[in-house]
Amino acid sequence: MPIGKNGNGLTLLERFIPDGLSHAATTLVDALKINSISEKVRRGRRVVVKRRNIYGEQLADLANLYFRASSIPIRFWSKVDDWRRWEVGCFKMLNGDRFRAFASGAETVCEEKLPGKSLWDHMSRGTLTRQMLEAAAHEIRRAHQLWNDEFKGPWSHGDAGMTNVIYNQRTGRARLIDFEIIHDKSLPATVRHADDLLVFLLDIVGPVPSQQWLPFALRFLNAYGNLDVIAELKTQLALPNGMAWIWWGVRTSFANPAKVKRRLEKLRGVITDLRSYRAVAAKRARKRRRASITCQEMSPGMPRASSRTRAIKESANAASPGIPSRLPTTR
Ligand SMILES: Nc1ncnc2c1ncn2[C@@H]1O[C@H](COP(=O)(O)OP(=O)(O)O)[C@@H](O)[C@H]1O
Ligand SMILES: [Mg+2]
Repeated sequence: MPIGKNGNGLTLLERFIPDGLSHAATTLVDALKINSISEKVRRGRRVVVKRRNIYGEQLADLANLYFRASSIPIRFWSKVDDWRRWEVGCFKMLNGDRFRAFASGAETVCEEKLPGKSLWDHMSRGTLTRQMLEAAAHEIRRAHQLWNDEFKGPWSHGDAGMTNVIYNQRTGRARLIDFEIIHDKSLPATVRHADDLLVFLLDIVGPVPSQQWLPFALRFLNAYGNLDVIAELKTQLALPNGMAWIWWGVRTSFANPAKVKRRLEKLRGVITDLRSYRAVAAKRARKRRRASITCQEMSPGMPRASSRTRAIKESANAASPGIPSRLPTTR
């Protein structure tokens, strides 16, 4: 066990960081908002207006210094023109079939408002469903297959958290927004793609109650489906040390690091078995023997704190027909 770590492998700082400090860090992150957001109606259509704040460039440079020093694989677009080009370009590439985006004024980008709510909003309200997680995974997978000149390879988001996935209940489609960050371009696509999955999963691993987080995570991964990226993700599922931990605090809504560590370890173990589960599931499907869980719906949404004690059937927690509801206890 490394010096300075307790039985859980956490540093003393990680273990005893006072709540007040976490809150201060959250406030700081909020204060570091590089852009501000407002809404307008233009020619009868609702648009979201993103404007680069006055100290945006300096803040972006400062954040990038931190990301570099902490080996966090993302960078803010620091120059406003670069950001506007990337933000509009990505929005058009992903959403341009139905929605418009354009640069407007020196520091501003306008994007048509996508119908629906973010997955984060749904999770906070307890209305997150299996369909939403699957739609998010399908959209991220689709986006990861698109070629991008900037990367000279497949595209990746860089900030694919739940607040940046908008779900349209009417069409059942999820769409991605918020393109002010880019992955370190020197990284292979698989590593960048796994980081997108990680960022999405950290939103689940932090706040979701114990009965639900793993089925939610597995629903998402199973729908994403690219096993090479999921294998790479496995190598990224460990709490970082040093300064990077602060960023992980932000990513996990400052959830208890011991809990996050436990959950990531569990997820690592389950991912190990994902490939064999899929093989077993495919074999089962061929034999036309349906697993008992296939006709069970996952309870819609995440239970609120007050309903956590509600009895939830094991079958209702099943991540997907391909994954048995009883999860492996590898450690
Ligand atoms: N085009 C859009 N359609 C719908 N909602 C949007 C759109 N752009 C932004 N929003 C909403 O505004 C929030 C913040 O916008 P975002 O582009 O993610 O900037 P940031 O996270 O950097 O503040 C999003 O989480 C989303 O709720
Ligand atoms: Mg955002």
